[in-house]
Amino acid sequence: MNDKIKAIKDRLGDRLLILAHHYQSDEIVAAADAVGDSLKLAQIAAANKTAELIVFCGVHFMAETADILTEDNQLVFMPDRRAGCPMADMADMSSAKAAWAKLTEIFGDSIVPITYINSKAEIKAFCGAHGGTTVTSGNAPSVIKWGLEKAKRILFLPDQNLGRNTAYDLGIGLEQMAVYHRETGEVEFEGNPENIRMILWDGYCPIHHRISLDHVKAARANNPDAKIIVHPECTFEVAEAADGKGSTEYLIKATANGSDFVVGTEQHLVNRLINANPDKNIAMLDNKAVCEDMGLTNDESLLALLEALERGDYPEPIKVDKETAADALKALNIMLSL
Ligand code: 13P
Ligand code: SF4
Repeated sequence: MNDKIKAIKDRLGDRLLILAHHYQSDEIVAAADAVGDSLKLAQIAAANKTAELIVFCGVHFMAETADILTEDNQLVFMPDRRAGCPMADMADMSSAKAAWAKLTEIFGDSIVPITYINSKAEIKAFCGAHGGTTVTSGNAPSVIKWGLEKAKRILFLPDQNLGRNTAYDLGIGLEQMAVYHRETGEVEFEGNPENIRMILWDGYCPIHHRISLDHVKAARANNPDAKIIVHPECTFEVAEAADGKGSTEYLIKATANGSDFVVGTEQHLVNRLINANPDKNIAMLDNKAVCEDMGLTNDESLLALLEALERGDYPEPIKVDKETAADALKALNIMLSL
């Protein structure tokens, strides 16, 4: 299959760009032109002006982002369109509008909305339309700092963990954070609303959220010399108990210096780090942290898509409607300029 994929890539040349997230399987990573975390892939998509066929091996929100950031003549396809993101599904336009009405009633006109790039295009558009931006785990501190300078408080969607972990590191205490419960509309906070700086949507990534303090304790007991590093989508207690936290690109770079690590993130990436560093002692913090949506793309579905593209028999591309894309682009462009 690899040979067939390579032959089609050679024949399509610059017309084709295959992008893969780090959580993809080894065969997909081997077939890709570029591999990265969400930030890096968004930047590559935005910079590429030659590929008319972009194949995104990741999940739906990433392909949507690539569509928004590329030109009209560039089409974005996914080998398996079913690959979604449970966290992105935790916020949609109607729940964001309901939240906004409630929050502005409590906090007045003092909120800037910021959404993790792991969100639906309509949520990025919601943020763009309200003067806000997007954020990824790779640039969260600078974007949240921007938000706190721009407005009295941030509505951070949909990942409460990335919002809480990053804001805390910037000096915002837990007592200055509220949680918005999307199902009940309840806004949870203590004390004077005037003191609230972060309003956290109650979404989370089920894969990182399941990594627990018990995993950290067990890793410390089994590997007392190892550095425990985790993705900021992990819970606050896990992130605080770890020795370091950061985006996927951070986790990869961090393992370059030193020899003993326990890594808390999606299993495909940790396995690749283990295999790429046979001389180091790298272990998994939780061996059940597997993103099944990321796993939906495989070499069979990639080859089938490439064959169809080469025949000119295009499946439906991933398309964001013009109005949504225009507002989402405002939000994305602020992030990319930061
Ligand atoms: P990053 O790619 O920003 O590290 O996010 C991890 C993730 O969960 C992607 O779905
Ligand atoms: Fe979504 Fe988490 Fe899977 Fe990333 S790892 S795609 S955030 S569910």
